[in-house]
Formats: sequence, structure tokens, C-alpha cells
Amino acid sequence: MSLRSILAGCGGYLPERVVTNDELSKTIDTSDEWIRERTGIRQRHFAGKHETAAFMGTAAARAALADAGATAADVDAIILATSTPDQAFPATALRVQAELGVTRGFGFDLSAACAGFIYALSVADGMIRAGQVRGALVIGSEVYSRILNWQDRGTCVLFGDGAGAVFLRASDCRDDDRRGVLSTHIHAQGTLGDILYVDGAVGQPDKPGHLVMNGREVFRHAVTRLAEAVEEALAANGMTHADVDWLVPHQANSRIINAMGRKLGLPPERVVVTVDRHANTSAASVPLALAEARADGRIGAGDLVLLEALGGGLTWGSALVRL
Ligand code: UT7
Repeated sequence: MSLRSILAGCGGYLPERVVTNDELSKTIDTSDEWIRERTGIRQRHFAGKHETAAFMGTAAARAALADAGATAADVDAIILATSTPDQAFPATALRVQAELGVTRGFGFDLSAACAGFIYALSVADGMIRAGQVRGALVIGSEVYSRILNWQDRGTCVLFGDGAGAVFLRASDCRDDDRRGVLSTHIHAQGTLGDILYVDGAVGQPDKPGHLVMNGREVFRHAVTRLAEAVEEALAANGMTHADVDWLVPHQANSRIINAMGRKLGLPPERVVVTVDRHANTSAASVPLALAEARADGRIGAGDLVLLEALGGGLTWGSALVRL
């Protein structure tokens, strides 16, 4: 027997305001055609003033707890991945903890850009396997609309706001019972930090910070690194492409998503796509896509789901989960 993290529930939150490509093209030198052709994005949600990372993370966490049939009393740990926290401190995770009425355990934020959810899942899974926690909320919550450079049409059309969450529950499983989080693999290459970054932070004088990206370079690395991460996950579990029921990829660009689906030999209907409606919500994109596919009944009990993401850092990783 060994301790395993069962993915007991998923939830998501999207801001009320929807902004189409046509709406953006009224103020930015771009077009619906360019954005759709290069990225697959049709629209994105932008947060209102009250829709901060903590607000959206709390809503997603509530939905995940409800989906799991769990309550605040079941939460030992909250790990929240974000690049757009409400405050430098306290951690956004602790604002969520307070809002949920969780009065014990611990929480912290994790910064790994678009790979943040995979990193947070990896940390939470390690803590559950070690017996440190029995119930963990893993959240990705982002308001990139606040760090976009509206003078840079190469980046400002690509991102959206939102939050996604999962609730992990510890379970004593037989070693041959292959349920829950089967493996996570995370990687980083700091020498590539300058191809995707935010050029400021609260610790920098007079620099709130805007997102900067060399899209072509990131694209090139994404295709290679994500393919490696997927193979690594399958090899670690003695599995092949044929075992995968669903791919839930980071939602940055439909061209990258389609390339990954083809590499795995998965038909398009087995790849969960939200980039068309959500755009790139960074650390929120994978849990949001997962929550959507669970809620509409596509992904069900027993399915083997492969998650992957890559982001600024460079950071990337994968997780293999049996629901
Ligand atoms: O979440 C983290 C991971 N991020 C990613 O994985 C993103 C990876 N990169 C990408 O998805 C793509 O590189 C982009 C979607 C960002 C860009 O697509 P691209 O095919 O690499 O385009 P490009 O940057 O090479 O630009 C091509 C042309 C340029 O014009 P010229 O120089 O060919 O005349 C740009 O100025 O498209 C122009 N362009 C635009 N035109 C209309 C750039 N942005 C826009 C725009 N509207 N919004």
C-alpha cells in the first residue's frame, strides 16, 4: 500500500467580461483573421476590478471542493500558482484560505508562469505521498490583462484572465491500483529567461512590469520540450501513446496543441481545447480546461489524462493522472 493523490474535484472561474478579437482590433493594429489563424483564439475574458487572483481563485476552489463533495474542513494545504498575485504578501493562497473559511493547515503561492499549475500539482502530490497533508487545493489564478503591454500587438492579443482549481485527496492505494496522480515531471532552464518574462515587479524601482515575449523562440522550445515531457511521463509509467485517453494541454496556441495531439496519435476530439474561448490564461489554463471537460462529461472516472504546460523561465512539465 502507498499514499496516492486522488483528483477528487475540479472547478473553474472566468471573468464576466468577454472581449472578442474584433473588439481588440478597434484599438490595436490587428485583425480577427490574424489572431485566429496564428493562435486559434476567438475571444478572451478580462477581469473587472473586483476580479483579482484571490477572488477568482476562491471561486474556482469552491467549485472544486463542491465537485469533490468536500468542505473547508478537508483542506490542509492550498498551493496557488500565479504570476499576478493580489499583493506581494500575504500570499494569494492565504487570502483564498481566509475566504474559504479554512482555519488550519498552510498555504503559499508558487511562481512558475504558465507551467505553474503543473509545478503546484507536483509539490502537492509530493506532500500527499509523504503523508504531510491529506487534502490539498491546487489552484492556478491569473489576471494577465493587468501586465499586458497594450502597445505590443504581438503579445497583448494572446492572453486572458481566469482561474482553475483541483482538490486532491490522499488515499491509501494498493501499488497495482493505478489511480490518481501517477507521476509529475517538472523542468526549468533559467538561461532561457529572456525569451518570455515580465520586465518589472514590486521589488523594482518604478517598474510595475509588462509581459515581453519572443514568440517564435518560445514556440520553437514549446514544441520540443513538451514532446519530451510527454514521452518522459509515459516512459516513467511503462505506458505508450495508446494508453492516453485525453490530452489536456496548456492553452497558448492551437498550432502547438494540434502538434502535440498529432505526436500522441490522438484524434482531435480527445484533445481538450479552450484557447479559442479563453486565450492563454497562463497557470489557470490547464485546470480550467480540465474543469470544463469534467463538467461537460467528456472526461470521466477511470480515464487516463495527460497534462502538460510550458512557460516563462523557461519552465515546463507534465503530469499523468487517472481519474
Ligand atoms: O504561454 C507561454 C507559452 N507561449 C507560447 O507558447 C507562445 C508561442 N508563440 C506563439 O504562439 C507565436 O509565435 C505567436 C502567436 C506569438 C506569433 O505567431 P508567429 O507566427 O510566430 O508570428 P510572428 O511573431 O513571426 O509575426 C508574424 C507577423 C509579423 O509581421 P511581419 O514582420 O511578418 O510583417 C508581426 O509584426 O505578424 C505580425 N503580427 C501581427 N499582425 C497582426 C504580430 N502580432 C500581430 C497581431 N496582429 N496581433
